Amino acid sequence: MGGDITFRGAELVLSTGVVDGDLAVRDGRIVAIGAVEQPVGEVIDARGLTILPGVIDPQVHFREPGNEHKEDLETGSRAAAAGGVTAFLEMPNTRPPTSTFAALEDKLARAQDRCRAHYGFFFGATPDNADLTATVEGACGIKIFMGSSTGTLLVNEQDALERHFAGARIPITVHAEDEARLRERYARYAGATDPGLHAVIRDPQAALIATRRAVDLAERHQKRLHVLHLSTAEEVAFLRERPDDGLVTTETLPQYLWLDASWYAKLGTHLQMNPPVRDLRHQRALWAGLLDGTIACIATDHAPHTLEEKALPFGEAPSGMPGVELSLPLMLNAVAEGRCSIQHLARWMSEAPARIYGLTGKGRLAVGADGDLTVVDRKLVRTVHADDLHTRAGWSPFEGWTLRGWPVMTVLGGRPVFRDGAFVEGVFGAPLRFDPAPRVPRAPAVAS
Ligand code: DOR
Repeated sequence: MGGDITFRGAELVLSTGVVDGDLAVRDGRIVAIGAVEQPVGEVIDARGLTILPGVIDPQVHFREPGNEHKEDLETGSRAAAAGGVTAFLEMPNTRPPTSTFAALEDKLARAQDRCRAHYGFFFGATPDNADLTATVEGACGIKIFMGSSTGTLLVNEQDALERHFAGARIPITVHAEDEARLRERYARYAGATDPGLHAVIRDPQAALIATRRAVDLAERHQKRLHVLHLSTAEEVAFLRERPDDGLVTTETLPQYLWLDASWYAKLGTHLQMNPPVRDLRHQRALWAGLLDGTIACIATDHAPHTLEEKALPFGEAPSGMPGVELSLPLMLNAVAEGRCSIQHLARWMSEAPARIYGLTGKGRLAVGADGDLTVVDRKLVRTVHADDLHTRAGWSPFEGWTLRGWPVMTVLGGRPVFRDGAFVEGVFGAPLRFDPAPRVPRAPAVAS
């Protein structure tokens, strides 16, 4: 059941530009933008606030079923909503993995009336389930781990990869790190104790080899490919040179945009994630790739592990860090610092994820679109404290960072789910619907 709500005098981030005006949502859909003559529902004085199309995080790990001590759909989605995220796409490396139809149905059933944001789930590829990836329904995409990471999912054999790409009818997403190179380098660095070696072992070549391999498969089979968490300058250069045929899209993460290899000395295994945080050369290339449209969107790869798990020595500590709750403040801070515009942010964090996965009704402020809104105060300055966060992980690599620009209200279909620091009782997300386009060309440049 959709809600009614009217905002007066907000800054509205439309795909055509930024304007001041009102916005009304009736029965869950946006019905008016500009000067609203007849307000509906609660009327909110939004002067000084900015309304973005609901932020979508297209890559999170919420750990249910199987590792609920790290996170579950309830805590993960609370973290999302508190961070201004109205929809998330969740990864299949749970226990058991989401690689059977029964496991996908189970996740969808668990999510119902528990998630505080709209939800979609990836279907996991295994060496022998290409009959399922070819026919799966109700998933946002297929996830292929081409290199080992958290969990058991891995598809490295060429014939299995060919089968998945041949049969897929929904977007294929890849964790692109080359398994053979990873194994060889883990053997070479066996016994290493310095977390800084993480980015040396899982080096840029490992990422580039796998990304090239995935692109080759996508081109030969003419299938949509989304390369997850792009981390290297070399991959940006490779993808930039590809024709803009809409076949291949990619994303990057706030961790790569804000942190760099110098942070291993301070954060140790807390900074460890796959693919790794790398040096500044890569960070600069990722920013450039976003700004020129080579990289379409921003995800978080929210990958919660407990402090106890992260305190294990390098080699035993798991890879990944939480992020779903802070990606928007981090990117609003980037806007405040002049690194990008608020329109870039809306494109990377809402419009592009909606286009890539064909999220019906999402991704823009327009009459007729769903009333999913992220209301932010671009001037609000606040410092990150783990105690204030909602993830069960209980920590953040950004602890102590002071950021300018924070969400103040998260609205699902016209109904606030999180406002002024508190959850609204009884408001839950719905399953996303998917209608992915066969091609997703780069979007035209926006003025920064
Ligand atoms: O660092 C990572 N952690 N990378 C992944 O690919 C998986 C994730 C996790 O699930 O922990």
